Amino acid sequence: MTVIATQRRMNDDNHKIKSIKAMADTGITHIPPDFILPLYMQPRFTKTDISRDVPTVDLSLVNDPCERKRIATSIVEAVRDWGYFKVRGHGISEILMTKLLLVIREFFDLPLSEKVQFLGSQSDTSSPRYGRTRRGTTGHQSWRDQFHHRIPPLNPKELQTWPDKPEAYRETVLGWTKEIQKLSNVLFDLLAEGYSLEPRYFQSLMGAVEKSAELDATLLAAYYPRCPQADLASGIVAHTDPTSMVLALQDSPGLEVFKDGTWIPVGADPACLTISTGDVMEILTNGSCKSCEHRVRVKETQDRVSALVMLKPRLDIKLEAAPVFITKGQATRFMDTDMTYRQYVTSFKDECPEVSFD
Ligand SMILES: [Fe+2]
Repeated sequence: MTVIATQRRMNDDNHKIKSIKAMADTGITHIPPDFILPLYMQPRFTKTDISRDVPTVDLSLVNDPCERKRIATSIVEAVRDWGYFKVRGHGISEILMTKLLLVIREFFDLPLSEKVQFLGSQSDTSSPRYGRTRRGTTGHQSWRDQFHHRIPPLNPKELQTWPDKPEAYRETVLGWTKEIQKLSNVLFDLLAEGYSLEPRYFQSLMGAVEKSAELDATLLAAYYPRCPQADLASGIVAHTDPTSMVLALQDSPGLEVFKDGTWIPVGADPACLTISTGDVMEILTNGSCKSCEHRVRVKETQDRVSALVMLKPRLDIKLEAAPVFITKGQATRFMDTDMTYRQYVTSFKDECPEVSFD
């Protein structure tokens, strides 16, 4: 058989793979060809600076009026300069953080026969979905499995569609949802204060007009198996997020952000959550908030679990800079169109299919 025919057969076989973990668990020593990144995207050919990390903001004194002002200012600076920061002192118990990562790991550790019931249809956004990511525009595959669903469930019937194994999954994710909603409101309000705007300014702008209304949110759990040729592959390629804000928990390093022409690894402090502002915030704030390019690297010696809560605006919200962020007489920096968030998500799916999650 010719080299091309062998490669074609490996690619065809790979199309049938439903789980990267299941493939990695067979003990393969070489990754299939379509997991190999084009040379210019391979981590070994890109610059990384391990001496830096994203800023950390301590929220523990957020109720002290003087400290609150300083904290709000540091968040504004962090999203302006990085679009990424870590938070500590956020009030979420480390027990819950550990438990969440544990139930997610336990879910991915279930036999494939349990997980395939969540393969579902890509167009059905009402139920949890499990599988590998879509193929990227360069034709390659990401080295990760993922599982995602809307949070919180809209009704008890929707909750019944969540996994019943591991046993603690539903209760833990529900508990996490409540804590994350609280924290995201604190962060959006601090950001608004930092810009001298009213509390709930950003939530209202994104369609959560009523005081008790919450933004739409998705929990995206990702599992990155150990990879026998980590330097050739990617957990997820460089991208920005088509979201408002992402609140992430990770059990080990792997996430990197692109700043000043180099990749900077984000440390995985178990007491911290990693926060990032996405494309939606960059557009609404006319570039005052940054949507930072980031990627995930995989390792030969260690697997990785992450749990991301992705906050999104209402689908009918028009994506345009809010007037308070437009300097008089100057053009807006992004998308001077009538595009709604729904249309933005559709175009993002075409441009970056491996990253889209609904
Ligand atoms: Fe991302």
